Parts: sequence; C-alpha cells; structure tokens
Amino acid sequence: MQTQLVIKGDRRDASDEGTIDVINPADGSVVATVAAGTVDDMVAACDAAAAAQVGWAATAPRDRSELLRSCYRVMTDNADMLADLIVAENGKARSDALGEVSYAAEFFRWNAEETVRIRGVVATNPAGTARMIVHHPPVGVVLMITPWNFPAAMITRKLAPALGAGNTVVIKPPKESPLTALALADLFENKVGVPPGVINVVATASASKPVQAAMNHQAVRMVSFTGSTEVGRVLLEQAAGRVLKTVMELGGNAPFVVFADADLDAAVEGAIAAKMRHSAETCTAANRFYVEEPVLEEFGAKLGRAMADLKVAPGNEDGAQVGPLINAGAVESVDRLVRSAVDGGAEVVTGGRAVDRPGFFYAPTVLSGVAPDAEVCRNEIFGPVAPLVPFRDEDEVIALANDTEMGLIGYVYTTDLAKGLRVSEQIKAGMIGLNRGVVSDPAAPFGGMKQSGLGREGSTEGIYEFCETQYIATNW
Ligand code: SIN
Repeated sequence: MQTQLVIKGDRRDASDEGTIDVINPADGSVVATVAAGTVDDMVAACDAAAAAQVGWAATAPRDRSELLRSCYRVMTDNADMLADLIVAENGKARSDALGEVSYAAEFFRWNAEETVRIRGVVATNPAGTARMIVHHPPVGVVLMITPWNFPAAMITRKLAPALGAGNTVVIKPPKESPLTALALADLFENKVGVPPGVINVVATASASKPVQAAMNHQAVRMVSFTGSTEVGRVLLEQAAGRVLKTVMELGGNAPFVVFADADLDAAVEGAIAAKMRHSAETCTAANRFYVEEPVLEEFGAKLGRAMADLKVAPGNEDGAQVGPLINAGAVESVDRLVRSAVDGGAEVVTGGRAVDRPGFFYAPTVLSGVAPDAEVCRNEIFGPVAPLVPFRDEDEVIALANDTEMGLIGYVYTTDLAKGLRVSEQIKAGMIGLNRGVVSDPAAPFGGMKQSGLGREGSTEGIYEFCETQYIATNW
C-alpha cells in the first residue's frame, strides 16, 4: 500500500515526519498510516508541477489522449484493488465501490476523446479589417482539493480533463481517504508512464496552511474543489487574493418531487438510488421528499419497506448495500437532525437511530409529517434519512423546491412528460433527474446553480474549465 507523498515522481515522508491514521469506518480500526504533508511539502509539490508543466503542455494532444486512455484501462484492470481501498477508507458497500471505480475510470475514457477536440475559432472581424484567432491553452498548475465521499471519482473527474488540456496538478486528498489518491498516482506513473511532476499528491493532517501555501504559489493558477459550501466560500475568498480561476462543486439540498400520477414503484426505486447510493453520502442525494397528498401514505409505506429491507453492513460483507457513515461525528449530526424533526412533530416510519454495533452505522430512516422548514429539510443531511413533506399542487411544490440557497440537483417523478419538463425547468438547479434517480455521467455537465457551485465538470464543457482563452488579432 502506497502511504508516502508523491512529489516529482519521488515517494517521500513528510518533511517533519508527521503522519495521519486512516480509519476504517466499519470498525474504527487503523487501516494505514499516511505521510501528512507540511507547507514545505506543498510548496515542493507546486514547484514540481511548475517544472513539469511546460514540457507536458508541449506534448501532442494525441499522446496525452493515449495516456488518458491507458489510465482508463489501468484503472479498469486494477478495479478490485482500488475498490478494496475505497471500502477500507470510506466504508461504502463493495458494489458501490466497484461502481465508483468504473465511473471514475470513465472520466479518462471520455476525456481521452475530448483531449483531441479542444477547438478554437478563426474569424474575420465585422469591419473586415482583421482576423481573430481564438484558442485555448492550458491554465498551468492546478490545485485539486477532493472529498472523502468518492475517493477515486472526485479525483478523476478533475484530473482527466486537467491533464488532457495540458495542465500539471497538485492533488490534496482528504485526510479520511488518501489511500486511493496515492494508489492512483502510483498506477498512473508506474503502469501508464505519466511523467514525474505531472501528478503530485500531498495528503495533509490539517488542510488550511498547506492549501493557503499552494494558493499563494506563483505557479498555481487554478483551484478545483469538491466539498462543502462553507469551505468553498473560504477558498473563493483566498482565490480572490491572486485572482485564481476556480471550479467549485459544493453542497446540495436536493428536492425529490413525487406527483400523484407517478409510477410509484419506479419512484420508490429512484428514491432509493437517489438517497442511498454510496451510503447516502453524496452531494446529489435526495434530501427533501415532496409527495402529492393523494399518494403520500402509499409512497411513504412503500419507501419505508424498501429502506427497511436494505442490508446495512460493513462494505465487504456479502450482500452489503449500505455501509457505515464516515465517522462518529457524521452519525451524531444525522441523529441530531432526526431528533429535531421528531421533536417538531415528525413520525418515524422506519429507522431513526444509530445501529448498535462497532463502527459508524445509521439505520435507513423515513420520517413522515415533516414540517417544510424543519432543520432536516434546511440542511444537507449526508446520511440515510428521507423526510417526507406533503404538497397540494404544482405551484406549491416549485416554491418548496426552490426555497433553499442550494441548487445542485432536483428529482421529479410524474407520468405526464409535459408537466415533468415544465416543473424541471422551473427548479433552480444545475441538474434534474426526470423519472430517474441517478444522473451522474462523465458525458454530462455536473455542477450547481446558486450556492451549490461554479463551473461544470464532465461533458464537453469540463475540459474547457481547465483552459484559458486567448485571442490573437492579426492580418494576412
Ligand atoms: C458528489 O457527491 O460529490 C458527486 C456525486 C456524483 O458524482 O454522483
């Protein structure tokens, strides 16, 4: 298992020999002890990325594309090893971990194809007096700050387009799940042949000083972050100091709307996917369930049974569907939201408590009769809790869905396609699942409106986020 920092192709201990223990959320045991990078290590990583950048950007797009394609293949060939690491450090069910590896690898396959299609424009100006050439060079050195809920995919969604566009990177993985990041860097350098210094990885025990040092490094021109809106705001303020380019994938508070004419079995299946994939710790997780009054009871009963039937167990146990939450603090904060909803008059249909076993497990929970302004509807839960709120008509549910500062994603279930599209268009969110519980796809633009973020990852747009735009005026 790779546990050292990756800087300029070297494997190093931290400059002060500091370490972090990586904890298995299924039982609280220590999985591995990883080097905890310092400010000096972060600066060394930025120096390494800066030194490698010009050479990397000068490689042929076709060569970078082929390397990206090899990263896809190597990830796929090593899916079991990567899934083992993800289960060990994040806790999610092995089926979810394997799904994540496949999703993560696809960002390389998709961006291998985009790398050779970064297009510019040549035009004559309207007065006919000049030619305008617009092209897209790489940004330079990119700092990537990634979360623990997708230890592989939230790296590759940034890394693949960044490398394809000709950038070099410094990755700061989360202290909870650095092992997958370190393993990926090893695979890409040793099995694919990505040159030293192109990918650097610095795990840290405490992020703020090393991150600030990276953002103040003269070579760093962009920060790409996935995580909470709270941390995103701080990073945006710091980025303003050097006017860095930013991509921010921040928090969600997704409404899940079930109209009375919906296929209720399909809606329950979609609700389980939207709420529970990856142990309910996704920013796309359905957070507030608005159900039209005539079907509230039936939908609640069906969802309650489906949630109660899920197998909650350590990710590696046979048939596990829901793993533990990331740590004890996560269990406490989910339980606090449930207690507060119950104190406000909600009823527990199923679950409603932590599971009495080692590790950080919380029972899949459905709450009915939840007030629209309950804390559990106002906050991103990041846990296996589905609060049900009744609604009477289309206008009311659109107002409820939009009554949040977040705007990452919404879900709508109805058999009336015109109504579904009408409502989807009025929900102020970057992504909508219309009769679908999962929307994530490397070929689709992932990102939010309002305080859920800035910029898009994936799709054709994703690679341009890692490019500058330069315009050359000339005559010939
Ligand atoms: C996230 O939770 O941050 C990403 C979810 C996804 O890509 O599906």
